[in-house]
Amino acid sequence: MHRVTLAEPDDFDGWREAARGLAVAGVAPSDVTWQVGDAPVDLFGEDLPLPHSDAPAFSVSRGFVDLARKALLHSDPERFALLYTLLVRLRDRPGAVEDKADPLVRKLEGFAREVRKDIHKMRAFVRFREVEEEGQARFVAWFEPEHHIVRYNAGFFLDRFASMHWSILTPEIAIHWDGTTLAEGPGASKADAPAGDPIEDVWKTYYASIFNPARVKIGAMLKEMPRKYWKNMPETALVPGLIASAQARESGMIARARDEVGGNSGIAWDALRDEASACTRCPLHANATQTVFGEGPVDAPLMFVGEQPGDQEDLAGRPFVGPAGQLFDRALAAAGVDRSRTYVTNAVKHFKFEQRGKRRIHAKPGAGEIDACRWWVEQERLLIKPQVTVALGATAARSLLGRVVTISKERGRAITLADGGTAWITVHPSYLLRLPDPAAAEVEFGRFVEDLRMAGAGVAGFVDA
Ligand code: URA
Repeated sequence: MHRVTLAEPDDFDGWREAARGLAVAGVAPSDVTWQVGDAPVDLFGEDLPLPHSDAPAFSVSRGFVDLARKALLHSDPERFALLYTLLVRLRDRPGAVEDKADPLVRKLEGFAREVRKDIHKMRAFVRFREVEEEGQARFVAWFEPEHHIVRYNAGFFLDRFASMHWSILTPEIAIHWDGTTLAEGPGASKADAPAGDPIEDVWKTYYASIFNPARVKIGAMLKEMPRKYWKNMPETALVPGLIASAQARESGMIARARDEVGGNSGIAWDALRDEASACTRCPLHANATQTVFGEGPVDAPLMFVGEQPGDQEDLAGRPFVGPAGQLFDRALAAAGVDRSRTYVTNAVKHFKFEQRGKRRIHAKPGAGEIDACRWWVEQERLLIKPQVTVALGATAARSLLGRVVTISKERGRAITLADGGTAWITVHPSYLLRLPDPAAAEVEFGRFVEDLRMAGAGVAGFVDA
């Protein structure tokens, strides 16, 4: 029996290295036990060196790696063994991970889904409270994750709150940022975090007792730290060798990831879409099949925002692929706008419908749903930075401008947005589909095409003027 001891409960690299060696050597899943750091030693296992094998290595799909990265953060102790079982299957059947009916694949996808939800929950619900620390403000938050997601999320908070000093306390670990160094300390209890009332003394005592460099682990934090912060890692620190080798490993990893997704913003966009896939900001996620995120090049100069996915989009997971999408495609072609060079998204990312028998009938999203989802559209715009954004219909216009918009009043002219970008407002393609009179529909289609052409002409070189 092989016993593999991983350094941490979220030690994906450790799992991957061990699992790869064991799988290449043909070690059966039933002959491996997995455990974490200081867990009680499994008496049935033995820490054998990884078996050597001359068998050729095998590669696995990106889909499996993405699934494994998330599922491994789940709190179920069986996750390492289940992932290893799937890996061994992939050696003989590379497509096994695509078999969505397979109970093992379904279970691991369920793990990944729960982890994504937890990641999102932490990002959405962490609330900092300000305490004074040696004349300086420190922002402290308490969070109880269900899974091992804290290190994974550290980069997210670092990105958003780089200029603040902050700490996030959780039962398993605490993470601290002092403007230059991200450090990790032992877990805390809720009483250690300020709760709104002035309990700074409690906090300070906790902080002073745990912020002892000898107890701080820095290496582990490199995993999810955005590259731009590496320069801030202490040169002299406790573990310079570890930092140097981890940096070298990470450089390779990031470069590979960048090659795969085609640019830095691609990585950020992937992360954003991933996060949105677990969104529970409004109740619509409960009945929809999936989040339908935007699609298109991450440097698209022209962005279209629709209302919400329809029945077909909900099933396909892509925006504007159903009847409204087909009309939209025809209008774009007539306007000389190449859809593949644009980014297409929706104001609301989940399908809202009423079930009537077997049919799902489109229901209009309400103001609360539009406003809850606005955050995602803003993140997409921040990342893509389109020169021109076109709102298709009143829902999209409300999302973009943050107020109720009467299409007929604001259509056909460029509007400057608060961030300096330009917006155009036009009708939604479904409006054209609903017009009963074919002659009127043709006239309206022409107006729609003209709106798209003018918006496209706002981007240099996009359409022939
Ligand atoms: N209508 C929309 O607004 N968006 C889609 O993706 C499909 C139909």
